[in-house]
Amino acid sequence: MNGKKSNFDKSTTRYEGILISLGEVVNAAAIGAEIKSSRRICCEIYMPSDTARNLEIGAKFTYSLTDSHHLFYNAALTGRNELGFQEIPDEQIYRKEGFVYPKEAINVFFCKVKDISKKKCKDEFGTAEIKEIEGKIKFDKKLKDGSPLARGDQLLDTMVHLTRLDLAEGKEKKRLRKLIIKLLKSADESPIKEKLKKALEK
Ligand SMILES: Cc1cc2nc3c(=O)[nH]c(=O)nc-3n(C[C@H](O)[C@H](O)[C@H](O)COP(=O)(O)O)c2cc1C
Repeated sequence: MNGKKSNFDKSTTRYEGILISLGEVVNAAAIGAEIKSSRRICCEIYMPSDTARNLEIGAKFTYSLTDSHHLFYNAALTGRNELGFQEIPDEQIYRKEGFVYPKEAINVFFCKVKDISKKKCKDEFGTAEIKEIEGKIKFDKKLKDGSPLARGDQLLDTMVHLTRLDLAEGKEKKRLRKLIIKLLKSADESPIKEKLKKALEK
């Protein structure tokens, strides 16, 4: 570690973060995770996705908390299920012992996949196949001070809804579009807000 003490809360907590896995290229996705007693991390990955394909038993991955909307945007809304597309350019990542993580992270958890199970989940969009991943946190590292983005942040919530918009149909799609427009109206002006408006027009 670089000498800085981790500010990671040891109780079980739900986070939103950037999961970086390795396939043909470095792959980043925005993923929700539960981190338990510092050493276990659980997430549910919708299939098909690059992340679901990359995460097999024994695979190394990093999970990073960040205050960067830009990083979330790249991870969630570019390169979706697109093997060979690197969402975060080389100059914005560090590599260490077979792990890759973003320079803009606040905290990084270095993990290895220990267990995988698959389940089907019925939601408003239909039936989805989910890969449940349980990982062991080998170590963690604090890169800088800051408050990680979490649900409740208008722009982050907008991104979550935008990733679901493609899957939705009919009434549900209309409802999501309305919700996104409302969130974007009340969000402060920023370059990322402009990008999200453009993503909605697509
Ligand atoms: C804040 C946030 C949280 C997300 N959480 C999840 C999640 O827990 N599981 C999931 O499969 N997708 C989640 N997504 C959507 C993925 O980030 C998105 O589908 C991504 O493009 C998948 O990329 P990949 O194909 O490169 O793996 C989330 C998106 C956002 C913005």
